[in-house]
Amino acid sequence: MDASMPIRSRFAVLCLPGRTAAHEKDVHVTVAMDDVVALCKRRGFIFPASEIYQGINGFWDYGPLGVELKNNLRDAWWNDMVRCPPDGPDGHPLSIVGLDSSIIQNPKAWVASGHVGGFNDPMVDCRETKARYRADHVHVLRHNANPAFPMFAFMEGDIENARKKAAKVKGASVEEFEDLPLSAVLSELARVIGPDASKPGSLTEPRQFNLMFKTYVGAIQDEDSVAYLRPETAQGIFLNYKNVLDTMRVKVPFGIAQIGKAFRNEVTPRNFIFRSREFEQMEMEWFCHPSEAKKWHTFWCSERGKWWQSVGLTSDNLKLRPHDKDELSHYAKDGEGTFDIEYRFPFTAPGFGELEGVSHRVDYDLRQHQEHARVKLAYFDQDSRESYLPHVIEPAAGLTRGALALICESYTEDDRPSKVFLKLHPRIAPIKAAIFPLVQKEGMPEIADKLYSELRRKYVMQCDHKQAIGKRYARMDEIGTPYCFTIDGDTLTDQTVTVRHRDTAAQERIALDKVGAFLAERLG
Ligand code: GAP
Repeated sequence: MDASMPIRSRFAVLCLPGRTAAHEKDVHVTVAMDDVVALCKRRGFIFPASEIYQGINGFWDYGPLGVELKNNLRDAWWNDMVRCPPDGPDGHPLSIVGLDSSIIQNPKAWVASGHVGGFNDPMVDCRETKARYRADHVHVLRHNANPAFPMFAFMEGDIENARKKAAKVKGASVEEFEDLPLSAVLSELARVIGPDASKPGSLTEPRQFNLMFKTYVGAIQDEDSVAYLRPETAQGIFLNYKNVLDTMRVKVPFGIAQIGKAFRNEVTPRNFIFRSREFEQMEMEWFCHPSEAKKWHTFWCSERGKWWQSVGLTSDNLKLRPHDKDELSHYAKDGEGTFDIEYRFPFTAPGFGELEGVSHRVDYDLRQHQEHARVKLAYFDQDSRESYLPHVIEPAAGLTRGALALICESYTEDDRPSKVFLKLHPRIAPIKAAIFPLVQKEGMPEIADKLYSELRRKYVMQCDHKQAIGKRYARMDEIGTPYCFTIDGDTLTDQTVTVRHRDTAAQERIALDKVGAFLAERLG
């Protein structure tokens, strides 16, 4: 486990629509990030990469249940974006096609996109502790009145630690310290005590740090063989925009969608899989007439918010936020800007963290590639006889970050034996149903096995014979399995089984031969 990973804040799960009876009673239920991380490890969702070698900072492996959950989220996005895209504002289905482009592209593409020159994060180093921080994630507590007092730096979200230090300053009360971004006090760095340091003056001036992962292609390793791992899936789409136009029967407006790995040498990977160095994105570039870009931007912001709700982020932990002017990416400056769909993660609470950005990239990327590659990328509209470079609206979501949001949102504390269950949407749950023989005798295992073999081709199911029934239920609760079917003594006499519902722990009996229909009604 990455020792530098800060797991600190507890956040209150508010009383929200869709939460359980247990939550309705107790609005002060709290979720701790370290409990979420522990469950992910204990139940085979997410492991630190190279764990037996003490891990490698910023990299994670998805275990048997993690990969199922992540694939379910990926498939839901692909289905709802590519195979069955939403209806547009005019009520007609949109046209979106898929793509799977190479992770390594000609390095000139990354020069054109602006990533080689401009994909930088400011970082500061601490001379005392040798730690490195993203400058824009560092804040300080500065005393309002007394310039002689030290300033206490802290990482966003960790203000409590800094407040404890400030409380020890003689002659000042902690309320007199103001929370400021590090950028506001750069001329006074000599007074700043680094987040993990003990003496002032150890933080360096911010320096720009390029996030691109470099590698070499071919047998000779020199400047001419340098290549980059893609930092976003989006550029592969722009590089193939003309191929798609020439081969598919698409007309502007249309979209190209891609899901895949992206790599960023993040200065401070942290908060579990929230910010890692290898992660997955789900991106769609929507090509439209410049005069319609605003309309489509509004449309996609609303659609994407609704989609996250549809896969389980139903609470007010989800919100839409416009970017401030100083946050805009190099490609979004001239357009309507970017809206972030944000989620209140346990480690950002009471604040929010980005889950998806919906940007108006104007014609930045097509124009850059047109100039650098010297190819014509203009679209010719046969109906209006007009030639133009389309504008692009880009909903860019994190798949791995989305998986984390869904796990956090579904993590539900309760007084049942397992003390916790994952209230995952059935579409996202890694295992859809479990079948248990109550005991290992009287023909119960045989009935369970038969039921399992009838249904397992349709749904991801488990048939578990071992352990006390309570323990088997507890395990299924912790991994978010919506339904458990138990074969017991009554099954032998009246051909019924017990169905246990995960969210309420309520049990009912249904006919053995109706289990398939029961699941079809609820899971499709
Ligand atoms: N093509 C635009 C683009 O890449 P971005 O906001 O940098 O935009 C899109 O990334 C999404 O990818 C983010 O909203 C986030 O969910 C995810 N993401 C970005 N960096 C990440 C990281 N280091 N670890 C995990 N997810 C990340």
